[in-house]
Amino acid sequence: MCGIVSYKGKMNAREVIIDGLEKLEYRGYDSAGIAVANEGEISFEKRAGKLSNLEKALEENPIAGHVGIGHIRWATHGAATDINSHPHLSNNGRLAVVHNGIIENYRDLKNELEEEGYTFKSSTDTEVIAVLLEKYYENDLLEAVRKTRERLVGSFACGIISADEPDRLIGMRVESPLVFGLMEDGFIMASDIPSLLKYTRDVIYLENGDLVDIKGSSFTIYDKDDKKVSREVKKIEWSVDAASKDGYDHFMIKEINEQGPAIDELLRVNVKNGRVDFEEGSFSRQELSSIDRIYIVACGTAYHAGLVGKYAIERIAKIPVTCDLASEFRYNNPFIDEKTLVIFISQSGETADSLKALRLAEEKKAKTLLITNTLASSMDREADKSIYCYAGPEIAVASTKAYTTQLVNLYLLALDFSIKLSRIDEKAYEGILEELKKLPKKVDTLVKDDEAIKKFAKEIADKASLFYIGRGLDYATSIEAALKLKEVSYIHTEAFAAGELKHGTISLIEEGTPVIAIMTQDDLVDKTLSNVEEVVSRGARVFAITSKDDERIEKISDAWIRLPQTLDILYPILSVIPAQLMAYYTSTAKGIDVDKPRNLAKSVTVE
Ligand code: G6P
Repeated sequence: MCGIVSYKGKMNAREVIIDGLEKLEYRGYDSAGIAVANEGEISFEKRAGKLSNLEKALEENPIAGHVGIGHIRWATHGAATDINSHPHLSNNGRLAVVHNGIIENYRDLKNELEEEGYTFKSSTDTEVIAVLLEKYYENDLLEAVRKTRERLVGSFACGIISADEPDRLIGMRVESPLVFGLMEDGFIMASDIPSLLKYTRDVIYLENGDLVDIKGSSFTIYDKDDKKVSREVKKIEWSVDAASKDGYDHFMIKEINEQGPAIDELLRVNVKNGRVDFEEGSFSRQELSSIDRIYIVACGTAYHAGLVGKYAIERIAKIPVTCDLASEFRYNNPFIDEKTLVIFISQSGETADSLKALRLAEEKKAKTLLITNTLASSMDREADKSIYCYAGPEIAVASTKAYTTQLVNLYLLALDFSIKLSRIDEKAYEGILEELKKLPKKVDTLVKDDEAIKKFAKEIADKASLFYIGRGLDYATSIEAALKLKEVSYIHTEAFAAGELKHGTISLIEEGTPVIAIMTQDDLVDKTLSNVEEVVSRGARVFAITSKDDERIEKISDAWIRLPQTLDILYPILSVIPAQLMAYYTSTAKGIDVDKPRNLAKSVTVE
């Protein structure tokens, strides 16, 4: 959680940093702050609440300088207050730090430092870094940072400045992400690329343990063993538009609309000459032959993609798959060994639970494969193989285009495994690929089909609870659909396997309770329809998401959306789209800040 931006150069650090923090609001947004080193002292401003609160405060106190650090917070240790906001200063006010991550041993360090007479203003873990820096500072910031780093346990990406060395900025990366941008006449460091894009395309992805020492107009990178190293400068291909709203009211609706082109791009890259081709991203026939089971491990929406992936891999490639939440997998003593393949799914490639689960799988000698949207992320560096989603930056907290591109990659992976293991015939393989290629156009049509959804969204906006129901793949989609609606509309939404309703949940249905039924699977429609009858006869208002041209569905539902035709197995890619739109329009009907729902963050780098 949290995002940091640091700058040193000829421009006004305040402007570059505030601009960079705006691009990181998806990482957290309950407080923000900035500090600059100037004229022998550190000036700072920090405020609880959204970034706009800090911006207002800065109008009164327009601190300025050419070196500075900034932070946007998602509280973990200590409430979201002005005092707990970053930057944190040393007791003498001459050193300042911003930090993304967690200092696990901060209590011990705090006790030790208090015994030595230092004091603490905040309840954060971060303040110990500022105080340790003061303890170790002897006119050389780099030395103080090195000594401080040795004392810290946990994950930390930091920007550090000193009033006594106003021509210096230090960046430190241990576990938490930090990217370093080279500008024409300056340097910018941030937790993620969108903060850099306005200023540069030349970027160094810092490695775990790296320290960057920027002094004057030059910089040196030291690795975890304090050896000077040179790191490759990469060119970022994204446009600035890809990280801006581009005429849409919100990132979420922009990203929903981008799904057609994103799937198209993914298929262009990962399918060549009528064949799935992940190049180095997948395993060879020989490696696959030694695999006897697969785990799919992920968090949040990525986990829901995994539920569909399990079905696709079992059906198409006929390998048994267990799908687990990363935060559970780690403590479940999973049955994994060198014959297991663990597939991780993570949009960001930085989610702490998923990253730790990846390390566990590697310790146990399993083969690992990552599906991610973020090249060079921590998980990307550590997994044996990586497959990319090519969805472009996803800024809205609620994941949409990352989910559908993850699904497409999972289908491609199932096809890749099945053909390599001779578990599918040519015709079926080609048939699924052909249908996948037709999906971008169908998705484009579907994102525009929003009239009935907008109407139903207005109707449910003031409801206290809602149910999604479905069977089989439609149940997997229901789980993601329910998460989408609850996270952005704050309506208590649950997904139920339609056949399970009668074992308890149906007692919650009363006059007017909204139920959204997903019905796309030929062999299950009749069964789900009977369950719809059951809720309707108890007063439910029903919205159907269906692929069927079936009078019975139209008769029994209050409203419906008909999906374009595709293979039954591929419907999750289409049926989730009306659900994403339902979440978006319900949230906006309620006046919620849909891109930044309360209590959430896009990238969760705490366990
Ligand atoms: C957070 C986000 C979710 C996301 C989950 C996993 O909770 O709000 O949208 O699905 O993290 O993130 P990942 O980057 O690992 O896919």
